[in-house]
Amino acid sequence: MLNDFLEDRGGLLHFDGCDLVALAREHGTPLYLMSESSIRARLSELRLSFLDRHENVSAAYASKAFQTLDILGLVRDEGLCLDVVSGGELFAAAKVGFPMERVFFHGNAKTGAELAMAVDLGVGRIVVDNSSELQALDSIARARGRVQPILFRVTPGVDSHTHQKISTGTIDSKFGIPLDRSVRDGYIKAALGMGGVSLKGFHFHIGSQLFDRGSHLLAIGIALDLLAECRRDYGFIAEDLNIGGGFGVRYIESDHPPPLAYFTDAMMEAIDSGCSERGLSRPRVIIEPGRWMVAEAGVTLYTVTSIKDIPGQKKWIGVDGGMTDNIRPSMYEARYEALLANKAGTPRSQTVDIAGRCCESGDVLIRGIILPPVEEGDILAVFTTGAYHHTMASNYNRVPRAALLSLREGTARLSVRRETYEDLIAREAFP
Ligand code: LLP
Repeated sequence: MLNDFLEDRGGLLHFDGCDLVALAREHGTPLYLMSESSIRARLSELRLSFLDRHENVSAAYASKAFQTLDILGLVRDEGLCLDVVSGGELFAAAKVGFPMERVFFHGNAKTGAELAMAVDLGVGRIVVDNSSELQALDSIARARGRVQPILFRVTPGVDSHTHQKISTGTIDSKFGIPLDRSVRDGYIKAALGMGGVSLKGFHFHIGSQLFDRGSHLLAIGIALDLLAECRRDYGFIAEDLNIGGGFGVRYIESDHPPPLAYFTDAMMEAIDSGCSERGLSRPRVIIEPGRWMVAEAGVTLYTVTSIKDIPGQKKWIGVDGGMTDNIRPSMYEARYEALLANKAGTPRSQTVDIAGRCCESGDVLIRGIILPPVEEGDILAVFTTGAYHHTMASNYNRVPRAALLSLREGTARLSVRRETYEDLIAREAFP
């Protein structure tokens, strides 16, 4: 099995102790399942490998990966920090009473309204991406008699060798401030002279789904040079260095992601030794895992609706979901493993392609997967769907968004109800 929380009990696939066929029957499909036990296991690993192992470090959960009020409550209770990237994510965090001083607000195109909301709520760090934002934030904060703590998002110019659409650290990235001296000088001098903001340090995020720490280590070296130059040139001492997320997870059998400590031990070693070489006192180090916390906690269930054999070509298995609940195959050529939940013990014997239900040739969930003989009504369970699925879902073709259950040791709880057809038209004005 792809992860420790999946289990074949007499031919019936179970996840976190729950019978998937029974859940599909009771709640309908497509159905997102999130294993709270799996998320809690990651939280323990995060604590053991990082938070308890080093002084003056924080972890901010990157909630764009998976955000519900439920998980915000869990992250709040665990004492973690939180990465949000929009007014909507911030609003939800405020709803669960998330302590705002532990929030990092990211984004390359924050609006004035979002900045004002963040200042009013008392967000701990706004991560400023560009000079328009810097100017706007300074005015907003001054108008309120506030001094907003900020970080600058910088672009270390490191290629993280992941899918181009999830690589963010290269020089020409749309994210962050280029480290070119002529550009960055202007930003730092401006911020240090502003009455409405207080510069606390820097942030970078180089990419996602990484199995190798090399790019992070390169970026760390570049960031430490920046800290040393800031101290020398402006007498500015950074309190925070936020090194982003990107830690990879297991989607398919051949993926072997390293444990978190593979990244964080080497990063902390590089930061500690790099700071002492440069005579710097080490800033607080923040990591921002998103996918790593939740991806493997997710399973999506579908019902097989059709089987189409094209002789000499391929066999299509049609299911009742697709790019509306999982955009990742069409957007990033992402690959997945799956099993038939009602035939978990049946030998796999045929290669098929899983077709999503949307009117797009590109809506194919899995290409070339080997499954047991498939029949209409079978329940297909697709694994590692906990990150960037629920949060990236759409209503294309007016498909209602799926319900989401939170599982824990054999019990299932409704966390997000299924959208109704009425929900789909609720915002529309119709004379
Ligand atoms: N911090 C910042 C500033 C980020 O932009 C991101 C992700 C993270 C942390 C968390 O990265 P993670 O640990 O999850 O790799 N939709 C894409 C992934 C986009 C990632 C965007 N930023 C996907 O489904 O693969």
